[in-house]
Amino acid sequence: MIKKCLFPVAGYGTRFLPATKSMPKEMLPIVNKPLVQYGVEESIDAGLSEVGFVTGRGKRAISDHFDLNYELESEIAGTSKEEYLTSIRDVMNQGQFSFTRQTSMKGLGDAILNGKRLMGDEPFGVVLSDDLCLTEAGEEGVLAQMVKLFKQFRCSIVAIQEVPEDQVSKFGVIAGDKIKDNLYQITDMIEKPSIEEAPSNLAIIGRYILTPDIFDILEKTAPGKNGEIQITDALLEQAKNGCVMAYKFKGRRFDCGSVDGFVDATNYVFNHLYNQ
Ligand code: UTP
Repeated sequence: MIKKCLFPVAGYGTRFLPATKSMPKEMLPIVNKPLVQYGVEESIDAGLSEVGFVTGRGKRAISDHFDLNYELESEIAGTSKEEYLTSIRDVMNQGQFSFTRQTSMKGLGDAILNGKRLMGDEPFGVVLSDDLCLTEAGEEGVLAQMVKLFKQFRCSIVAIQEVPEDQVSKFGVIAGDKIKDNLYQITDMIEKPSIEEAPSNLAIIGRYILTPDIFDILEKTAPGKNGEIQITDALLEQAKNGCVMAYKFKGRRFDCGSVDGFVDATNYVFNHLYNQ
């Protein structure tokens, strides 16, 4: 019923310059695995194995990562080093990958609109791979939790978490009616509000399930905060005309688009997941 997932990966990653001058931010490794691969594994685990990327100039390393590297693979074939390729080979066996480009980086809303030709007229997931979401062993990933809710409510869903008041200006922030534990129906949302403007401390993070009518709305959405086309503005429109849910997910999220979050994620993965 829902089998596709979109990865907008065209951004400049300016907070990681100079590392991201010629290398995509999404290829930065958390220990030994690039951020984007964690996101794709979460997507495939949720049953969304048709993966579409919205890339941009300078992002070819991402499409190469999800393709064979014949020379390397034949060099290490039959040696003990081959086991290091196990996780990416599993991903490549289970996923189907397609790519399109965003030609000017006009914001996340514009990147998602560029994904229309890959997602078509079906509901789909969206993963921002610089938000690394991890759950305890044996627990469902964040996207899998959201797919379950989608089957029940059949409307767009955004993942949210509570953030300290002084952090709200970094996020889209929602107001909503509580439907049940951890689930709200959105009544308002503001992109990067000041503390005074923020309707709550419930911040949207980089996991979404979107219904395809979002594309028509995005086509009509004018640039908002920072002159970018904001998915938050389009989702508010969708919420006003129908229903958008916000889900306080189970698990932990690391903002790997910032240096602090990236270091925290690296320490966490090294201490808890690597070599386990
Ligand atoms: P971010 O705002 O975190 O990424 O967007 P950025 O713009 O690359 O980072 P900074 O702020 O300059 O350091 C979240 C996700 O949306 C994608 C990014 O690649 C990232 O995965 N994105 C953002 C696009 O694909 N296109 C855009 O125009 C903007």
